[in-house]
Amino acid sequence: MSDNLLNRYGPWALVTGASSGIGRAFAYELAERKFNLVLVARSKDVLEAIAIEIKSKFAVEVCVITADLGNSAGSRAVLDQVESMEIGLLVASAGFGGSGPFVEGDVLHDLDMIQVNCTACVELTHSLSQKMKGRKRGGVILLSSLLGWQGVPLSAIYAATKSFIQSFAEAIHIELKPDGVDVLAVAPGPVVTNFDRRANMTIEKGATPKIVAQQALTALGRRSTVVPGPLSKLLTYSLLALPRAVRVRIMRQIMSGLSNHGK
Ligand SMILES: NC(=O)c1ccc[n+]([C@@H]2O[C@H](COP(=O)([O-])OP(=O)(O)OC[C@H]3O[C@@H](n4cnc5c(N)ncnc54)[C@H](OP(=O)(O)O)[C@@H]3O)[C@@H](O)[C@H]2O)c1
Repeated sequence: MSDNLLNRYGPWALVTGASSGIGRAFAYELAERKFNLVLVARSKDVLEAIAIEIKSKFAVEVCVITADLGNSAGSRAVLDQVESMEIGLLVASAGFGGSGPFVEGDVLHDLDMIQVNCTACVELTHSLSQKMKGRKRGGVILLSSLLGWQGVPLSAIYAATKSFIQSFAEAIHIELKPDGVDVLAVAPGPVVTNFDRRANMTIEKGATPKIVAQQALTALGRRSTVVPGPLSKLLTYSLLALPRAVRVRIMRQIMSGLSNHGK
């Protein structure tokens, strides 16, 4: 297999969640590999500043789409705007978490999370991978999580959204392989980004977003799942050796340490 990602998936990559953290890191890694980029998030000014920097540093084309993926109109608007472009690589990194007891939380917040983390991913992946299948080439990178390997008390809905993404990615990895479309689930443990603030958690130690993006791009086309970074690997493989019910209890302990709920 050629190592040249641009030959395999170029010329255009669409990155959601490109204004921050892991999505932003993917944008820079892909620009360095000479992909033209469509950057999607809600923060217009941040995206535009990133676009200016990437264009001047890497001499690639960058298109900014401001959209709220918390409703289907947002996904539709993104798809309409890229209708005529040859998007060969989708990185669906937009997402957010939450922490605290399920029954005490705001169910509208949880439903918004399901929409952004799951529904928008399905909408974008369905439309863009249909076109990739028609061209017999393409790549899809979906962000799951270490939390998706089992239920996680105090982050019940977030963990469930990531289980959904992991299962979805594993299945379409097999379905789309014969059509020349590579699908990868990226399942990090803690990554130092803005994620924890929005999720009402504190993550002090973790992988860098750059490592996550680099390891994912290396794994794309070779594997169905990548667990990026040494800490994520250690946590994943030590936990996966245990019975699922035990893991759920351990996750409760871990999450009560990370969550700021009630502190
Ligand atoms: N950080 C971790 O420890 C970790 C671990 C495992 C998996 N992940 C997953 O990695 C992905 C990226 O997270 P991150 O760590 O990079 O977090 P982050 O720094 O908070 O970035 C999240 C991105 O998602 C975008 N986003 C959030 N809500 C959106 C909405 N309604 N519409 C459009 N875009 C939206 C944000 O942009 P705007 O606010 O500008 O819209 C931002 O660009 C997420 O799917 C997360 O679940 C993170």
